[in-house]
Amino acid sequence: MYNLNIIKIEKTDSTNNYARELIKSGNISEITVIAADEQLSGKGHSENTWESEKGKNLTFSAILSPHFLEIQNQFILTKVISLAITDFVAEYFDKSLVKIKWPNDIYVNDKKICGILIENVVKSDLFEYSIVGIGININQTEFISDAPNPTSLKIINGIDYNLKELFYKLLKHIENRYAQLINPILNTLDKEYLNALYKFRELIDYKFQQKEIKAQIIGVSKFGKLIVKTEDEFLIECDFKEIEFL
Ligand code: BTN
Repeated sequence: MYNLNIIKIEKTDSTNNYARELIKSGNISEITVIAADEQLSGKGHSENTWESEKGKNLTFSAILSPHFLEIQNQFILTKVISLAITDFVAEYFDKSLVKIKWPNDIYVNDKKICGILIENVVKSDLFEYSIVGIGININQTEFISDAPNPTSLKIINGIDYNLKELFYKLLKHIENRYAQLINPILNTLDKEYLNALYKFRELIDYKFQQKEIKAQIIGVSKFGKLIVKTEDEFLIECDFKEIEFL
């Protein structure tokens, strides 16, 4: 369907960094995927590191070229990728257990199974490239970093999985959802994203700007901000890191 190019490497510092260098050298297919057995300094959000034991998990970056997407609509890409991974993870569990913790962590049973780090290369308000870094915990059973709540397919299901098979399955899901990005039916995507959203419409405790509040998530804005309604009916739009689950 697409011109898909897969580059497999044994080790690198971070597949997202590798992707960035590759872009500089030109010659990128419509979808280029760089997968590594080992990352020496895998990157997470906000300068965090991403822990992944060599050869146990899926750690890769997909270079996408959504030239057709305006930069102000970039959250659609986050939605599409989060949904692709949810589709994949839901092959192994009851779908109702698989959730997207805003903006794009994938959770199963209240624990994080996958992190996504999207880095964009932008040229005059349009995407030139988007580097979509994905780390999914598959066969790792012990985590030594202070990553909050990690889990893996093996921790939950007790099965050792064939990484190669899972990798190709996941790529299929990404290709399918990428097609939705080209021709997005926004209402459907929004509905699917909200349906899968962790703690959607649950009145619970959050920390917002250093204060504890009771609120419920009621939506996500076009720009990807989380919209919550406090128990006394105030609406707040939150940026990443401005609000925390307690
Ligand atoms: C997060 O903090 O939740 C995002 C984690 C993203 C990890 C993946 S692993 C493959 C890709 N390369 C990196 O260096 N990071 C991403």
